[in-house]
Amino acid sequence: SEVLRVGVAGLGTVGAETVRLLRLRREDLARRAGRPIELVAVSARDRSKDRGVDLAGVAWEDDAVALARRDDVDLVCELIGGSEGPARTLVETALSAGKSVVTANKALLAHHGTALAKTAEAGGVTLAYEAAVAGGIPIIRALRQGLVANSIGRVYGILNGTCNYILSAMRDTGRAFDDVLAEAQELGYAEADPSFDVDGIDAAHKLSLLAALVFGREVDFDGVHIEGIRPISPLDIAYAEEFGFRIKLLGIAEEAPEGVRQRVHPCMVRKDAPIAQVEGVFNAVVAEGDAVGTTLFLGRGAGAGPTASAVIGDIVDVAAGRRAPVFGIAAAELRAARPAPMEAL
Ligand code: NDP
Ligand code: HSE
Repeated sequence: SEVLRVGVAGLGTVGAETVRLLRLRREDLARRAGRPIELVAVSARDRSKDRGVDLAGVAWEDDAVALARRDDVDLVCELIGGSEGPARTLVETALSAGKSVVTANKALLAHHGTALAKTAEAGGVTLAYEAAVAGGIPIIRALRQGLVANSIGRVYGILNGTCNYILSAMRDTGRAFDDVLAEAQELGYAEADPSFDVDGIDAAHKLSLLAALVFGREVDFDGVHIEGIRPISPLDIAYAEEFGFRIKLLGIAEEAPEGVRQRVHPCMVRKDAPIAQVEGVFNAVVAEGDAVGTTLFLGRGAGAGPTASAVIGDIVDVAAGRRAPVFGIAAAELRAARPAPMEAL
């Protein structure tokens, strides 16, 4: 049957692993998708860099946006990052050209998600972003499809692997913040600008996407109250331990009578709570549904393997023709954002 021809923009931590896994699992993915999936073109900044993957026979574009214009590309995979610049232009160009897009870029979607979803749905194509929230945990599918019978009153969790890695290491080993952050960067967990991680911005990007999906409202990143983990000292962590608590950076979105309250800040969590046991690069998402009750999703929230795993899940969905509205209901029907005033924290 007809081949799905894929173009990948960005060959860094996530992009290179996506290419490697697409190759490694080629035959099985084709069986599961019901058609072959072929990597036909790639783009990154530096053509001479060794990516550790075989790109023989794959076309190279110096300009990422050119991928969206190639006649031999059906699906664009955006793994560059950033809410503006080439990532935004590439995704807009691809969707407007009637090509489906798979992206891991939560910054882009937090700022432009509603408009991009409208473009995708108007063109009858998919905008898939499983990798953008909680790395390898298939939380978008779970909330959009699996829990569709529920009214979800609250969704919250550990949404940034880098921060959780830092807080865990500071507690376990007493190592300095900067030292552990440098390690998280080396492991490929951190954003290009790691202040997005430690200042809570990345978790807020992800929270705004979860909130849109769960509450059926337009993405409202500006409505998120944000505090990061820089002020947390080893002494804070030690005192919290002494009183039976762990400090975790949580993102919390809940429906209030006045609208939706979204916040990201360090929280004291009782040591015996399941979410307190989540350590290192792991993320966890709790969704409270009226029919299902409380559900907890756990897995690695960052890194090459977990993120590429989610990207490829989306590629296979597109290949198989499985489609769902970007934020669960048609983008044109999302209600306007309505931030609720912050309660005393
Ligand atoms: P990297 O910095 O490792 O990779 C970025 C890639 O984009 C590089 O290959 C770079 O090229 C390429 N690039 C930069 N500018 C351009 C441009 N103008 N045209 C073409 N290519 C360009 O980032 P990650 O792989 O870590 O992240 C990619 C995306 O995935 C981001 O949106 C990030 O937020 C998201 N993400 C990352 C996760 C992770 O754990 N790392 C987890 C979940 C999501 P070159 O290599 O030549 O410099
Ligand atoms: N920098 C992000 C994190 C990558 O540490 O969680 C995954 O989105």
